[in-house]
Amino acid sequence: MAVEHLEQVFEEGLDRAYYMEQKLVKILDKMAKRATDQNIKDAFEIHKEETMEQVARLEEVFNFMNMTPKKIPAHEIDGLAEDEKEFDKEKPTNAIKDFHSLGAAVKMENLEIGHYEVLILIAKKIDLHGVVSLLKDNLKEEERALKKVQKLSKRFDFTTTIHPDASMM
Ligand SMILES: [Fe+2]
Repeated sequence: MAVEHLEQVFEEGLDRAYYMEQKLVKILDKMAKRATDQNIKDAFEIHKEETMEQVARLEEVFNFMNMTPKKIPAHEIDGLAEDEKEFDKEKPTNAIKDFHSLGAAVKMENLEIGHYEVLILIAKKIDLHGVVSLLKDNLKEEERALKKVQKLSKRFDFTTTIHPDASMM
């Protein structure tokens, strides 16, 4: 079927966002388990819970549109997950591993933000106003999550064993 309408582009983007969020629930769970710093562990665990809610919001969007999600992979997220696995094979120290995970999270959040910005842009163009607020809720959570991992990265201190305190943010 030829792609001729913006609606089709929106649906494709929505399928990829759904794949991405589902994958991120698993990735964040793994990152939380392997993190050695408690604050970083907590940050990943909290965002995993939020991501589960984001999956549910996307399901609401599918329902609103009377659509059944198709499994279309989002290659960027698979690539980032693959990079993490490869990096782990290099046997990084715990501190380096934690710091690298934060960097991966910064990339992942930026990626998600981009996806939602494009989806919201298209939704407005095709007058799908009923789904914009759901997508904006997800976008706002991603922006907050990005700020949090950016702060944790900036405060990460390699010179001491004391790592940044997420509760102070
Ligand atoms: Fe996220």
